[in-house]
Amino acid sequence: MADLSTNFIGIKSPNPFWLASAPPTDKAYNVERAYEAGWGGVVWKTLGEAGPPVVNVNGPRYGAIWGPDRRLLGLNNIELITDRDLETNLREMTEVKKRWPDRALIASIMVPCEEKSWRDILPRIEDTGADGIELNFGCPHGMSERGMGAAVGQVPEYIQMVTEWCKQYGKLPVIVKLTPNITDIRYPARAANKGGADAVSLINTISSIVSVDLDSFSPNPSIDGRGSHGGYCGPAVKPIALNMVAEIARDAETRGLPISGIGGVNTWRDAAEFIALGCGTVQVCTAAMTYGFKIVQEMIEGLSNYMDEKGFETIEDFRGMAVPNVTDWQYLNLNYITKAKIDQDLCIKCGRCHIACEDTSHQAITSLVDGVRHFEVMDDECVGCNLCVNVCPVENCISMVPMATGETDPRTGKTVQSDYANWTMHPNNPMATEAAE
Ligand SMILES: Cc1cc2nc3c(=O)[nH]c(=O)nc-3n(C[C@H](O)[C@H](O)[C@H](O)COP(=O)(O)O)c2cc1C
Ligand code: SF4
Ligand code: SF4
Repeated sequence: MADLSTNFIGIKSPNPFWLASAPPTDKAYNVERAYEAGWGGVVWKTLGEAGPPVVNVNGPRYGAIWGPDRRLLGLNNIELITDRDLETNLREMTEVKKRWPDRALIASIMVPCEEKSWRDILPRIEDTGADGIELNFGCPHGMSERGMGAAVGQVPEYIQMVTEWCKQYGKLPVIVKLTPNITDIRYPARAANKGGADAVSLINTISSIVSVDLDSFSPNPSIDGRGSHGGYCGPAVKPIALNMVAEIARDAETRGLPISGIGGVNTWRDAAEFIALGCGTVQVCTAAMTYGFKIVQEMIEGLSNYMDEKGFETIEDFRGMAVPNVTDWQYLNLNYITKAKIDQDLCIKCGRCHIACEDTSHQAITSLVDGVRHFEVMDDECVGCNLCVNVCPVENCISMVPMATGETDPRTGKTVQSDYANWTMHPNNPMATEAAE
């Protein structure tokens, strides 16, 4: 059976599944039950400075987007960092770490962007026995208005500076948690790297207004008729997170920097995808909030089965395997030609593929043949875009079939070539050079 244990920047955990800093990791009561359920690690709900704790709204703090079956696709929140006092959190962390020495316990921190504030809190965290710290430079609401969270995460110079303080004054491994609310994620990642970060984690939540009530004209969640933007997470954000992880994994300056992947991990497959893009651990929040702590058991079993099937003995055996396959558009092979093919036995004749192709693609799918409702791809029109695959309600009913070398593409009349040819070499490219990737 596959060995799921991980050693991430020196922090060991029995599996790569960590709970992200959020309500599920808010207190010992939760964290202990999470460990009992099988979570390999936990990033404790973000701690703030000593003194009066932050105050949350007393009304709804969540908004959501659902699929037609009411399954949660995206979650929006306006919660702040922990609203429990620092002493209580530190005491509970100490007790929990003592009882669960084999599980990872990471302290997430957000204090003002001043040297003294960071210098003061670091030894207190170390005293708890925590395995590492995560710098919360991500929270996009509330705390950012006070110059913390995303307000720091959006300024690479600040990220570097605070990371340097944490390396200078602290002994624990430093994970810098990045905000996705920035144009190019490589800049904050490079800054964290320059500051000496041991790892980055991403993504934190995405600034969002999830919906507007059309009776009260208030954004949701509505607090007495008014709303403010919140942070978006859950399955809907996974594509954004994967892209940002890939950007960091393949960037010349940050390649090899350990990454803890976060954002929309709902199943073992999601986790495996983050690992394939280079992540050493994955963090989960919304899935645990939606389905409870025991969801980790399905994740562990699924990942383990997948690894057994593929012959991967450890996470390291497939970590990063997808990174070399992420490239820029200009390097994609323009000689790779596919055609859509409809499996007539599976087709329920709904006509969606025809409408999509007719109105937005290449008018390549019939609707009537000899006066009878029939959906079939005309190869001489099909550009292989796969829009029809994505709108078809029947899984595997339409597949994309690559053309073989030497065949003639009926659309262009050209013979399919075996060699790789990308835009940098294409005759239509005025900048074409002989250079391949
Ligand atoms: C209600 C709520 C509170 C959160 N609080 C924190 C926090 O205190 N510190 C932090 O770093 N991230 C916080 N997050 C962000 C999560 O740790 C995580 O980065 C994000 O939800 C994306 O993961 P997911 O798609 O699995 O939910 C919070 C998320 C939610 C939903
Ligand atoms: S792949 Fe694109 S062009 Fe071809 S049939 Fe489907 S939608 Fe039409
Ligand atoms: S969308 Fe799929 S099921 Fe519907 S007609 Fe097209 S191929 Fe058939």
